[in-house]
Amino acid sequence: MDENIQKLKELIAESDNIVFFGGAGVSTESGIPDFRSVDGLYNQEWKYPPETILSHTFFERHPDEYYRFHRAKLVVENVQPNTAHKRLASLEAEGKLKAVITQNIDGLHQAAGSKNVLELHGSILRAYCSRCGKPYPAERMNHGTGIPKCDCGGVIRPDIVLYEEPLDNEIMSKAISYIRHADVLIIGGTSLNVYPAAGLINYYRGHKLVLINLSATPFDSYADLIIHQKIGEVFSQV
Ligand code: APR
Repeated sequence: MDENIQKLKELIAESDNIVFFGGAGVSTESGIPDFRSVDGLYNQEWKYPPETILSHTFFERHPDEYYRFHRAKLVVENVQPNTAHKRLASLEAEGKLKAVITQNIDGLHQAAGSKNVLELHGSILRAYCSRCGKPYPAERMNHGTGIPKCDCGGVIRPDIVLYEEPLDNEIMSKAISYIRHADVLIIGGTSLNVYPAAGLINYYRGHKLVLINLSATPFDSYADLIIHQKIGEVFSQV
């Protein structure tokens, strides 16, 4: 076994206060492309830059184009949790992992059995009316056609944080508290490019910061243990 993975195995064995903070790279082994890798969503040709489409202004002005992108690119059929999702859920069940903090909107951590999941950027498995707030089943949005409308006439939207929109304060406060008090903080599958999520790393006060990411991140120098390997393969060994 790789000596760094062996060190991770020991850190996990010795702790009952582990927190995980992750991003799109946790779901790529389930078949969902991430955003900034070479084959990621933001490097694919589309009528408008995907970062533009995933913004509040664009959703308001071009809901039809937004939903074309949403159904083509955000909704991935028949995806299943992978080894990383499942191991994180089992670590929580063993009383070792306190929380999963994710930037992902795919619901795969919950599908794997994780109970305490903080979704910083929301979820495409939830929808609501952008005018009256009435909740709707995601089916209307994810698998319909055209612009889904509420009984009040408002446009139904996904319960995700679009660019230009604030994150939920309560979720951020909980995430900060878990990270501030964590013994071991494992960060995985994220380029740590997007704020305020990426800034969460600064609240960690321990000396057991593990970074599991295929590519380098701006925070590599902060890590006590770095593993540049596929996160599903790493978690299959710990
Ligand atoms: N194992 C480990 N790392 C991986 C794997 C894998 N199997 N697959 C991809 N990665 C790494 C990539 O190298 C990349 O650095 O995961 C990282 C994913 O980074 P991004 O694509 O930038 O995704 P993320 O960090 O989640 O983006 C944050 O940006 O657009 C917004 O709201 C969107 O939540 C998203 C946020």
